[in-house]
Amino acid sequence: MKRAIFPGSFDPLTKGHLDIIERSVDLFDEMIVAVLDNPEKHPMFTPEERCRMIAEVLVGMDTGECTMAVESFSGLLVDYAKKREATAIVRGIRAVSDYDYEVRMALMNKRLEPEIETVFLMAAEEYSYVSSRLLKQVFTLGGRVDGLVPELVEAKMREKRAETN
Ligand code: PNS
Repeated sequence: MKRAIFPGSFDPLTKGHLDIIERSVDLFDEMIVAVLDNPEKHPMFTPEERCRMIAEVLVGMDTGECTMAVESFSGLLVDYAKKREATAIVRGIRAVSDYDYEVRMALMNKRLEPEIETVFLMAAEEYSYVSSRLLKQVFTLGGRVDGLVPELVEAKMREKRAETN
């Protein structure tokens, strides 16, 4: 049984993340989308809101034989992965700029927990410039993000903007 963790901030989930999930489900029997609970980052959505949104989006997705779960975690990723008996960490790489940080993280995680492999997938070309941080900035300043986040996520972003204005 191959269980993988797809960790991230997911603040919010983007179509780039979804693309990585869609392509990973063929590689693993079970996949846990793990939302980092890190209050220091001043997120747009609480970890609970992010988990709920991801779970709702996943309901409409064909994940084949792969069982999906969504959870939040705090502390070291490898500790969480070990506790959940996962053997792989999935990360998407968009551009060379991601590579440096991702490799350092993968090597550090390998040193901490040699049994857990990091599996990198190249981001789809059409989403290779999409990041949650950039999307939030564009959205907050009134720009359009349709097509770059699931519709449900865009609706929640609108709600959040209305709440804070
Ligand atoms: O979506 P992000 O913000 O790029 O995800 C980063 C994440 C959550 C994978 C990373 O920050 C992480 O693993 N945080 C947990 C704390 C940890 O284990 N830090 C050491 C990594 S070498």
